[in-house]
Amino acid sequence: MTLLAIETSCDETSAAVVRGREVLSNVVASQIEMHQKWGGVVPEAAARAHVESILPVIEEALSTAGVTPEDLEGLAVTNRPGLVGALSVGVTAAKAMALRLRIPLLGVHHLEGHILSVLSLPDEIPFPHVCLVVSGGHTELVKVDAIGAYTILGQTLDDAAGEAFDKSARLLGLGYPGGRAIQELAQCGNPKRYSLPQGLKGDTLDFSFSGLKTAMSRLVENEGKNLNPADAAASLQATLVKVLTERAVRAAEHHGAKALTLVGGVAANLALRESLREAAERRGLVFLTPPVALCTDNAAMIGLAAHPRLMAGESDGFALDCLPNSDLPLPIRQS
Ligand code: KG4
Ligand code: ZN
Repeated sequence: MTLLAIETSCDETSAAVVRGREVLSNVVASQIEMHQKWGGVVPEAAARAHVESILPVIEEALSTAGVTPEDLEGLAVTNRPGLVGALSVGVTAAKAMALRLRIPLLGVHHLEGHILSVLSLPDEIPFPHVCLVVSGGHTELVKVDAIGAYTILGQTLDDAAGEAFDKSARLLGLGYPGGRAIQELAQCGNPKRYSLPQGLKGDTLDFSFSGLKTAMSRLVENEGKNLNPADAAASLQATLVKVLTERAVRAAEHHGAKALTLVGGVAANLALRESLREAAERRGLVFLTPPVALCTDNAAMIGLAAHPRLMAGESDGFALDCLPNSDLPLPIRQS
C-alpha cells in the first residue's frame, strides 16, 4: 500500500510517502527558529505555522517520492496526543485529501509512530522487545509483544528526558531546544567534574528528572563565573545516559526481551546510542535505533505505524477527533 502520512502534533510540519516498510520521502519543516524567541513552543503560533507549511510540505513529499495523489491508497495522520490546534491542521488536511481521493483515513498515536520508527530499518524486528521512548514529551519503557501490543513498564514521574536536556540547556544559556547543543558542548567536557543526582533508586523502572533539574540550577547559581559549561554539559549528559541505559537494560532482562530499541528525539543523542548499543550487545540483546532523521518528529514513522493497521482493514471515519492526551492504542483489529 502506498500511503501519505502527515504529522503536526508539535513544532514540526511533516509529510511522508511510505510503501510498506519503505520510506519514499520524508519532508520536515521545522518551526524551531520561530519558537526560539520565546524559549519554547507557543501552541497558537505553532498551529498558524502549520497552516502555512502544510500544503507545500505535502506537495514536496509527493514530488520527492515521484507519486501523484491518485497513486495514494491510504492516508495516515497523527491525531493524538499533542497540541490540539496543531494536530487539527494535519487532521483537517488529511480528511480533505481522503475525501477527495476516496481512500481510507487512519488516525495514528504519536507514540506508536515513535515505537514503530524501527520498521524503517532493513532488519528483522524481534518480539517481544523493549522500547525506550525518549522525547521532549515522553520517557517511557514499553514492552512490545507484537505490532500493536504494548505494555508500559515504566515512565517518568515528572519531566521527560528531553525536558531535562532542554531545561539544563537554558540554564547554561544554550537556547531551545537544547539536546543537540548539550551534546555538542559535552564533547570537550569532563563528565566526572560535577556529581549530579540520578533520581529514583532501587528496582523501579520509572524515572524522575526533576531533582536533576534542581541540581543543575543550584550548580549554575553556586559556581557562578567559575562554572565550566562544557564540564556541566558533559556531566548532565553522562548522568542521563547512565540512568536511561541502566533502566532500559534491566527492563529488557526482566521481561524476557530479545531486543532493545531506542526511539524519539533524544534517541538522536550519540552518547546514548553508543551506551545502549554497548550495554545491550554485552547481554546478547539485539539493539535497534532508527537513523537520526527518523528519531525527531517526522511523518515517515506515522506512515510506518499506519501501514499494518490499514492492511488489516482498520480505518477511521471523517469524525476523527484530535486528542491532547491518549493512552497507547489497542491491538490491531482484524476485519
Ligand atoms: O521526538 P521529538 O522531536 O519531539 C517530541 O515528541 O517531544 O523530541 C524533541 C526532543 C527535545 O527535547 C530535544 O532537545 C531532544 O529531543 N533532542 C536531543 C538531541 N536531539 C534532539 N536530546 C539529546 N541529544 C540530541 N542530540
Ligand atoms: Zn515525538
